[in-house]
Amino acid sequence: TLKSIAKFATAASILTVSLNVFAEPVEIKFSHVVAENTPKGQMALKFKELIEQRLPGEYVVNVFPNSQLFGDNNELAALLLNDVQFVAPSLSKFERYTKKLQIFDLPFLFEDMDAVDRFQQSESGQKLLNAMNRKGVVGLGYLHNGMKQFSANDPLNLPKDANGKKFRIMASDVIAAQFDAVGAIPVKKPFSEVFTLLQTRAIDGQENTWSNTYSMKFYEVQSHITESNHGVLDYMVVTSNTFWKGLPADKRAVFKSSLDEAIALGNKIAAEKGNEDKQAILDSNRSKLVTLTPEARQQWVNAMKPVWAKFEDQIGKDMIDAAQAAST
Ligand code: LMR
Repeated sequence: TLKSIAKFATAASILTVSLNVFAEPVEIKFSHVVAENTPKGQMALKFKELIEQRLPGEYVVNVFPNSQLFGDNNELAALLLNDVQFVAPSLSKFERYTKKLQIFDLPFLFEDMDAVDRFQQSESGQKLLNAMNRKGVVGLGYLHNGMKQFSANDPLNLPKDANGKKFRIMASDVIAAQFDAVGAIPVKKPFSEVFTLLQTRAIDGQENTWSNTYSMKFYEVQSHITESNHGVLDYMVVTSNTFWKGLPADKRAVFKSSLDEAIALGNKIAAEKGNEDKQAILDSNRSKLVTLTPEARQQWVNAMKPVWAKFEDQIGKDMIDAAQAAST
């Protein structure tokens, strides 16, 4: 009868409503400090896509780029409070949680990104993913950005050209020592403040990858970029132990494999973007490229390499040897 159909329909809709209430997807937050058109930005969006495709209705991943949600000064603390579930700070920003990752900041340690990759995938490199476990931070994988270049409002050809100049750096004592070594003044500042600091000339220069220099428009407020390839800027994608262990094992496996795939895409973009963004900067004619002769580059190496010895005890000689081996 009509009446029983109506009753059935009402019951069905109540059931659907209550199922929907039950099936409310869990919100996962991924926060980062860079633009979307970067290796990290694209990796995070791929991760979102894969999780929502593979665990439909169970999880939504909301990605917050550009320090919108958390910035350099609070993203790791927020992770440990479970206010965000995934972040991917540069390897230079974990100093308060482990000294071991300082290895990646040693100037002129890695020949190129292939050497960085070989070291990260080696046994020693993989061990470093666990360096912060006791602090509740779980390393899930490395993500590439690229080699760093110096930029300033004057051409930096020789180490003496950096003397007395203020450089924005990430919160890393190794990078501070690297600039101290050439008589420059390192200033630790969050990424979100760099453009304004450069624009207002509160600082003279900075070091970054081509993709960050391009996406944040640093090249519009820096007259020269020195192609120094003096160090690496890569990331570790991390979560908290609390969140990770709280996931059901089968879901955790999906999160891990999705992340691995997203990282593979991010790495591919990183490899391409290095050249593309460099070219875009050169095409803009806003910044001049400074190319170092082998002799000039050797002067930078000689000036900055003594930094290694200062951090050898904290990092471990065995680790430095392993990293060097990856370059040869
Ligand atoms: C920086 O602070 O310069 C970079 O670590 C930003 C980033 O995440 O690439």
